[in-house]
This record gives sequence, C-alpha cells and structure tokens, in this order.
Amino acid sequence: MWNLENKIVIVAGGRGLIGKEIVKELKNAGVTVIDADISCETDYDKDTFKLNLLDNTSIEELIKFTLEKYGRIDGMINSAYPHTKDWGKYHFEDDPYEHWAENINMQLNSVFYLDQQIAKVMVEQKSGSIVNFGSIYGIVGNDFTIYEDYGGTSPVEYCAVKGGIINFTRYLASYLGKDNVRVNCVCPGGIWDHQREEFVRNYNHRCPMKRMGNPDDIAPLCVFLVSEGAKYITGQIIAADGGWTAI
Ligand SMILES: NC(=O)c1ccc[n+]([C@@H]2O[C@H](COP(=O)([O-])OP(=O)(O)OC[C@H]3O[C@@H](n4cnc5c(N)ncnc54)[C@H](O)[C@@H]3O)[C@@H](O)[C@H]2O)c1
Repeated sequence: MWNLENKIVIVAGGRGLIGKEIVKELKNAGVTVIDADISCETDYDKDTFKLNLLDNTSIEELIKFTLEKYGRIDGMINSAYPHTKDWGKYHFEDDPYEHWAENINMQLNSVFYLDQQIAKVMVEQKSGSIVNFGSIYGIVGNDFTIYEDYGGTSPVEYCAVKGGIINFTRYLASYLGKDNVRVNCVCPGGIWDHQREEFVRNYNHRCPMKRMGNPDDIAPLCVFLVSEGAKYITGQIIAADGGWTAI
C-alpha cells in the first residue's frame, strides 16, 4: 500500500533531531534519500549534500545534484531549522526588531525559495510530494505556564513562522493540485531532547498523552506523506502531538 520502491526523496535538515530519524526510516522503506544539511559534506556517491538554505544558489545546486544523478525528485521533506545564535533568549517585550526580522527571513523565506524551486521540477514531472514542517505553535497559541518555573519562553517569531508555513502549505496545495503535486505540513508537538526537568514535568502534565514526543513519533508520518498511500492527500496540516492541539 505504501509503495516507496524507487522513490527519490530529498530531506533538508537530514542531520537534525527529527531529520535523522526521517532519513533512517525512509532508507528502511527502500527510498533513495538525498541527505541535505548544512552539517553534511557533499558526496555524490553517498547522496549527501552540504545545503545552506539561506543561500538560494545552494538550493539550486541541490536540485541540480539530484536531477543529474537521478533525473527526478519524488519527494522533498524540509525539517531544517535555521535560526540566529541568540534564539530563545528574548521575551516578547525585549525582542529586538532585528532578531524578529532575521529569524523570519531565515525560517520562513528559506521555505518559500526551496518549495518554489522543488515545485517547478515536480510540476514538470506531473507528480511529487512536498512536506513542510510547522509546529503545534503554528496551530494554537502558546501555553506560557509551562515555562513559568524557570523563567524561559518560546520566541515570538516561532508562531509567526509556523503559522505562515501552515497557510503557505494550503496555498501551494491549491495552486499545484492540478499538476498532481501534493503539499502537506507536519506539525510536531514538543520533542524530548534533554530539556529541563521543570519544563518536561509541566509539558507532560498539559499534554493529553502525558509525554513529550520522540523523533520516531514524527518520521513515519513523513514517510507516509511521500508514499503512494497518501496520493490523494494534499493541503493538510497534520499534528503529531499526543493530543496537545485537541484541547
Ligand atoms: N524539536 C521539537 O521539539 C519540535 C517541535 C515542533 C516542531 N519542530 C520543527 O521540526 C523541525 C525540525 O526540528 P529539529 O528539532 O529536528 O531541529 P534540529 O535543530 O535538531 O535540526 C535542524 C537541522 O537543520 C539544519 N540546518 C540549520 N540551518 C541550516 C541551513 N541554513 N541550511 C541547511 N540546514 C540547516 C541543522 O544542521 C540541523 O541538522 C523544525 O522545523 C522545527 O521547528 C520541532
């Protein structure tokens, strides 16, 4: 049912917390994966590409790299997460305008150019699946009580970026549907990654399934969305969040 044999799928951000699991599960399913990340070395034989999403030429070169070797792109999953070094430092009232502008540029504008260039290839092929990454905080507002015990916060740019990616996904799905190019958005809940104990306790208490997510709660959804099993699914915003956005 999930025919993935012979598929060529690019994973942008393939070396990240979630990206690594996506690459692993795609390969297990028989997919040829182009592992593209700023921390990769470009290696034609190993299908790895040093991608800088903030450099449009690098995006163009990734596409050229893939087409020269395989002649098509069946799927593109973007789990990259570029952000400034001081990400997470500011509460709303202290957030410098430059920090806002730079992160919107890094996190949202890079999604535009990558999706636009990939879509051109897929429109020509008359097939393809694009998977964008949102978050629970693109769907609902933040629950700030989970940060109260230690004075942390979630950066304001995040909700704007993720909300933007979500409706950009719907726009693309509507625009590209006639060309059999599907575009969906995966929205994870918080993924456990050695966060502070107070945060994890509060998060688990608020979450209906009483735990944070793991990369293997997210990756199978991405695999499904690039498979033939999802061939009539487009424009969907799918949360894998233990029920966070249900309440
Ligand atoms: N981890 C979570 O709790 C969580 C929750 C909700 C949504 N998400 C979303 O899931 C996605 C993946 O998150 P993650 O936790 O795996 O992130 P991560 O930081 O672990 O990984 C992101 C990857 O992107 C790569 N990257 C950064 N800048 C880049 C650039 N300029 N060009 C190319 N690659 C670049 C990094 O090298 C890294 O491998 C993000 O969109 C994030 O917002 C994550």
